[in-house]
Amino acid sequence: MSGFGYRDDALTVDGVRLDTLAEAYGTPLYVYAGAEIRRRYLSLLAAFSEPAPEVFYALKANPTLGVVALLAREGAGADVVSVGELERALVAGVPPERIVFAGVGKSRYEIDRALEVGILQFNVEAIEELRVIAAAAAAAGVEAPVALRLNPDVAASTHDKITTGRRDDKFGIAGDRLDEALDAVTALGALRLVGLHCHIGSQVTALDDFERAYLRMAEFWRHCRERGFRPRRLNLGGGMGVRYVDEAELDLDAFASMVRRVTADLDAMLGFEPGRFLVAAAGRLVSRVIRIKSGSHGRCFVVLDAGMNTLLRPALYDAVHRLVPVVRQRDAASIVADVVGPICESSDVFLRNATLPPLVDNDLVALTDVGAYGATMAADYNSRGRPGEVLVDTGVVTLLKPPVGWIELAANETIPEHLVPGADREQPRDR
Ligand code: LLP
Repeated sequence: MSGFGYRDDALTVDGVRLDTLAEAYGTPLYVYAGAEIRRRYLSLLAAFSEPAPEVFYALKANPTLGVVALLAREGAGADVVSVGELERALVAGVPPERIVFAGVGKSRYEIDRALEVGILQFNVEAIEELRVIAAAAAAAGVEAPVALRLNPDVAASTHDKITTGRRDDKFGIAGDRLDEALDAVTALGALRLVGLHCHIGSQVTALDDFERAYLRMAEFWRHCRERGFRPRRLNLGGGMGVRYVDEAELDLDAFASMVRRVTADLDAMLGFEPGRFLVAAAGRLVSRVIRIKSGSHGRCFVVLDAGMNTLLRPALYDAVHRLVPVVRQRDAASIVADVVGPICESSDVFLRNATLPPLVDNDLVALTDVGAYGATMAADYNSRGRPGEVLVDTGVVTLLKPPVGWIELAANETIPEHLVPGADREQPRDR
């Protein structure tokens, strides 16, 4: 279930045809299903029953204001990693006291702003960072709420580039430096230890990976208690994996009962920071076939108007997003082809040797499960512009973000005066 489905052979969401959206807003176009985002959020809460955990939506997965506002309206908090994400969360209606601020590179300015608006907590990644937060809090005359992000030294079985909980990863405070961090909290003043935090990586589907990390966190938690600290919040991060092709999706009920078991005696308020789990399945990238190109040895390329500039995940992580037709042709035969983008890079490939629906030039296709880490990772490479983003929610279509063309991308650039084309012709200089 994803909110998308075929009606009269046309791909629709909430009764709205995706080919109509493509006509109205152009391609490539990201389309989101509001109902699916809501369903995912509620299913996470339902798996845990009472007391419900706190859910901080990781904005990095999809920071588009309309998406954040939908989750904020449902009651979700926000996990932000920059002042930009912080401001987005606030504008979208997330109350500051439901915002946690993570990230290895918080600048003094970002820390000051977070203190000014009064966020729930900083998820602190380093002892050095504690010093900066303490200084900022002292200057502002407030006490900063901090949670220590601890590195549990667990290698999650996911793509190397999205694993974050190994000892040598840049994230978190090493477990063997916990005492030093606690000493710093006490010595620096202006800090209040409100919780512990971890995040072992993204697209994790093995329950066992989470369990090993959470068992470590439970040990850290007890250690803090033994030392006389009284943290309240145990934030267990995000990372819950989803099904892109045929992976086993994380079993939420099994996940919830494992978490309850591991944390039963901790007297902790549980929190999570899912990004992908909430929004991945709720997105489709609608793209037009620019050309079907024949190669040597019978090879065939389907060239789309979306490329690695629109959806980077396949090029960066070898991620697979399925391709489905926007209008199904029942009587034509399927084809086998590589699906590629228009970008001048050999890595601009979505699918290799894939069995595809029948396709001809100008057909519309949709790449599936692109709601997380899709539009937000789009880039300007090759000056092809940025895709638009549309939300269909309760039957209402909203253009959340208009497409951006090369003119807008170049709008704030400056050509040095003496290099402006034709400048010397207009103002001849004496030589
Ligand atoms: N919390 C922290 C501290 C994180 O670093 C992340 C993701 C999350 C929560 C949310 O993780 P999620 O629930 O979405 O897995 N661009 C990559 C994913 C990078 C994830 C970075 N951190 C991709 O496209 O797969």
